[in-house]
Amino acid sequence: MALEERPVGKLDRAVIFLGPPGSGKGTQAKELARLYGIPHLSTGDMLREHVSKGTPLGLKAKPIMDRGELVPDSLVLKMVAERIERPDCSRGFVFDGFPRTVTQAKYLGELLKQHGLRQPFVIYLVIGSSVLMRRLTGRRTCKLCGEIYNIYDRPPKVEGICDNDGGALFQRPDDREEVVGPRLNAYEKQTAPLVTYYRRLGFLHDIDARKSVEEVRHDILQAVSSISGA
Ligand code: AP5
Repeated sequence: MALEERPVGKLDRAVIFLGPPGSGKGTQAKELARLYGIPHLSTGDMLREHVSKGTPLGLKAKPIMDRGELVPDSLVLKMVAERIERPDCSRGFVFDGFPRTVTQAKYLGELLKQHGLRQPFVIYLVIGSSVLMRRLTGRRTCKLCGEIYNIYDRPPKVEGICDNDGGALFQRPDDREEVVGPRLNAYEKQTAPLVTYYRRLGFLHDIDARKSVEEVRHDILQAVSSISGA
């Protein structure tokens, strides 16, 4: 039986997706969370929701995100702490885009201890920067269900329309070519140090993210099955 079709066990911990913009964190994190029936927590999605609702946090975050920089730790940490308090997180959750700085990672370590959760399982999507521009500028996302497409490599059946629910597809403002450069710089300076941080702790699992979406998914499931008791 294919790995994807086998019954899954339990994760009971935080799974973290780490990797540069466009490495496939959202694509894979959503799928893993769906399969295990636990929440998918994307700090990028949460912040975009604050922006679209015009909340005080959204108003502060918008210009920073538009420039391709990271939102200050203090704002992100409060938002994450509130989210993982909710009962649906008691059996574990999948982080996509968090933590992104060593300060965030240390804070998360403390939060997990407070919640009696085990050490996190960190999936590092390894990929060089040369393909990321094409992946990011080609990305389109469904307004209704959040399904992620790519006009070059993973197009919908009908242009501009989601295969799942007919929702309109949109391009994220920070996927414009001029914002992608600063985002990649922010990753190198502020987030890439987490690779060493988590590797030293023994939590890191490298996954070759240059492969197809399906092959990457398979490799992730194989890595995760070692901790899920399936
Ligand atoms: P966020 O939304 O987290 O964006 P990101 O990290 O830049 O990552 P992306 O969503 O762009 O890429 P992804 O790795 O999820 O790739 P995807 O699966 O979509 O953050 C946005 C902003 O919010 C930040 O810049 C910052 O300002 C702020 N922010 C968020 N979290 C923060 C935090 N913790 N602290 C501070 N600030 C924070 O795939 C991309 C494309 O590639 C898609 O088109 C997809 O179809 C395609 N693709 C995926 N996998 C493959 C594959 N294997 N082969 C071919 N194509 C593929």
